Amino acid sequence: RGTAPGTLPLAGRHVLVTSGPTHEPLDPVRYLANRSSGKQGHAIAAALAALGARVTLVSGPVALPDPPGVTVRHVETAREMLAASEAALPADAAVFAAAVADWRPAEAATQKMKKPADEAAPPMALVPNPDILATLSRHAMRPRLVIGFAAETEHVVEHARSKLARKGCDWIVANDVSGDAMGGAENTVHLVTDAGVEDWPRLPKQEVASRLADRVAEALA
Ligand code: CTP
Ligand code: CA
Repeated sequence: RGTAPGTLPLAGRHVLVTSGPTHEPLDPVRYLANRSSGKQGHAIAAALAALGARVTLVSGPVALPDPPGVTVRHVETAREMLAASEAALPADAAVFAAAVADWRPAEAATQKMKKPADEAAPPMALVPNPDILATLSRHAMRPRLVIGFAAETEHVVEHARSKLARKGCDWIVANDVSGDAMGGAENTVHLVTDAGVEDWPRLPKQEVASRLADRVAEALA
């Protein structure tokens, strides 16, 4: 569709973004989580809004302010993140940048777990969490453009390619997290699509975000 001069490229578009870790409770004071800071996902939400998109950001627990001009849904667990993401549909595009916990404790105790008299450690049974990206990629209200992330410490592009196929998304932003990417200010990513792989240089997370937002705008144009 043509863009009138002075009109932002994503004006009139709705984009869903997930960001941050999830916290999976073990009891009222303990949880299972990961080192995601939310910096990359939040920067993507802000960059999309700067291009004129209406953005719904579904965020796990992070120490970041809500990006200005973005509707933020705060959640804790993977199951809450899935519900909030589905509730945000329809969307023209979706970017799944969250580091969702793959498993959660099978049961969350309602009271704080106490050390047994014999000092033994309690067993911790885990069950798989729903895959939000895979679920929304195959959803009846699937966004036209679905973008996943792949956090890898080795064989980055290979693993990303298999995730692209397995999850049913359109693009994967493959993220080398072997260094300090989780929590750091910069990111080295590879954009993996059916058309091939683009290696982006190491960039500040804001710069990765604005390049990705530009690509989303091109794809939806
Ligand atoms: N993802 C998701 N829901 C999950 C797990 C992952 O939506 N329960 C999304 C992430 O937001 C990311 C993509 O799937 O966009 C890939 O996440 P990643 O952890 O790299 O892949 P997994 O399929 O969980 O595989 P593994 O952790 O074993 O590498
Ligand atoms: Ca995972």
